[in-house]
Amino acid sequence: MYLHGTSTINEEGHLSIGGVDTVKLAKNYGTPLYVYDVALIRQRAREFQEAFKKHNLNYQVAYASKAFSSIAMIQLAEEEGLSLDIVSGGELYTALKAGFPAERIHFHGNNKSAEEINMAVEAGIGCFVVDNFYELELLEEAAEEHGKTLSLLLRTTPGVEAHTHDYILTGQEDSKFGFDLNSGQVEKAIQSILKKDCFNLLGLHCHIGSQIFETTGFVMAAEKIFSYIKKWNESFSYVPKVLNLGGGFGIRYVKEDDPLHPSRYIEAMIKVVKTQAEQLEINVPEIWIEPGRSLVGDAGTTLYTIGSQKEIPNVRHYVAVDGGMSDNLRPALYQAKYEGMLANRPKETAEEKFSIAGKCCESGDMLIWDLPLPNPNHEDVLAVSCTGAYGYAMSNNYNRIPRPAVVFVENGDAQLVIKRETYEDLIRCDLPLKKPVVK
Ligand code: LLP
Repeated sequence: MYLHGTSTINEEGHLSIGGVDTVKLAKNYGTPLYVYDVALIRQRAREFQEAFKKHNLNYQVAYASKAFSSIAMIQLAEEEGLSLDIVSGGELYTALKAGFPAERIHFHGNNKSAEEINMAVEAGIGCFVVDNFYELELLEEAAEEHGKTLSLLLRTTPGVEAHTHDYILTGQEDSKFGFDLNSGQVEKAIQSILKKDCFNLLGLHCHIGSQIFETTGFVMAAEKIFSYIKKWNESFSYVPKVLNLGGGFGIRYVKEDDPLHPSRYIEAMIKVVKTQAEQLEINVPEIWIEPGRSLVGDAGTTLYTIGSQKEIPNVRHYVAVDGGMSDNLRPALYQAKYEGMLANRPKETAEEKFSIAGKCCESGDMLIWDLPLPNPNHEDVLAVSCTGAYGYAMSNNYNRIPRPAVVFVENGDAQLVIKRETYEDLIRCDLPLKKPVVK
């Protein structure tokens, strides 16, 4: 397993993260356990921001909290000076409870409810990333009701396909998200917004996909948007103040993944935006981005305890852990690949390949196929790296399995930031069957 961030093998020969022995973590907090390397999250947040600071332009780096939202995580994002992308009332609620400054919150989503919109207007969030015409009507009603002017970005679909997994492509034209550029929907939306006093149109947004390893897609999307800005500027003098180019920066899950340093994506974005703005002789818009995975993905490691095994001679050797698709849905949903190691004896030679099964009642609940390991025993601790993004966020209670706990580790300290769910938590919303009425 590749050692990300502060991960090392310590003197006891155990995997250590943030200066904390993971075997001790497993013992103290139980397994499955998500462990976050806080220093690595800080490093990534700084890498993105420093890439912008070298240039003389306004920017915002918004953490896409859908990747992992919790009070402590949002507070960490605030400490690092990030803005925040939220996509639901629940993510907004978490951000507000964490004390995140409302003016740095950007609200996404393709079907925001009137209730969610009201909540965000009352909180005074920084901007709505408007997705469709229906939302514009809801926003207008909310603005009138609260007597407020709302700042908006328009989500556009520029028709650029990024190289990634089909399930997570959101930038192509046939997408449920945003206003389509090519068919004139964006222009129509801009014109209708500009007529309304209750709106302040900040600019445009696009998000071309996820787990992207090249800069080409971002450059093409920006060029496409600028070809329209040229047209709008000429015909009705519209020039955006902000251009949000979304998230989607890739990370290394397995050795085939070859992500760029955050600065490489930012440099490419700044170059294309500056060049295009100069050509049109307009002010360079502010550039905003919204990384999720690349801020928290490789900072997360899940610890499991190994239990049963099943060896089918000449076929496969299954090794089961005490979690699975309930804490990491990505292998079952996207055939996502992960690396792993025995945290209590990482230096021992791998004897053969083992396939790591989850404990859910579903054949597809396999976490890793053919992982080279030393002969595993029950009670060994298996560490699976790169589970920080869309791991806890997509965890679920399938088979009524309680969600694991989350700890943050940094400089030799461990802090519990999400408690393990209890069986009592599982039935919190359940109500008993009504007693039959005896006649
Ligand atoms: N901005 C928008 C508008 C998005 O839709 C997303 C992700 C992001 C930013 C953050 O993208 P990131 O930097 O994390 O790639 N559950 C999937 C990923 C879904 C991504 C949805 N949108 C997975 O586990 O791979």
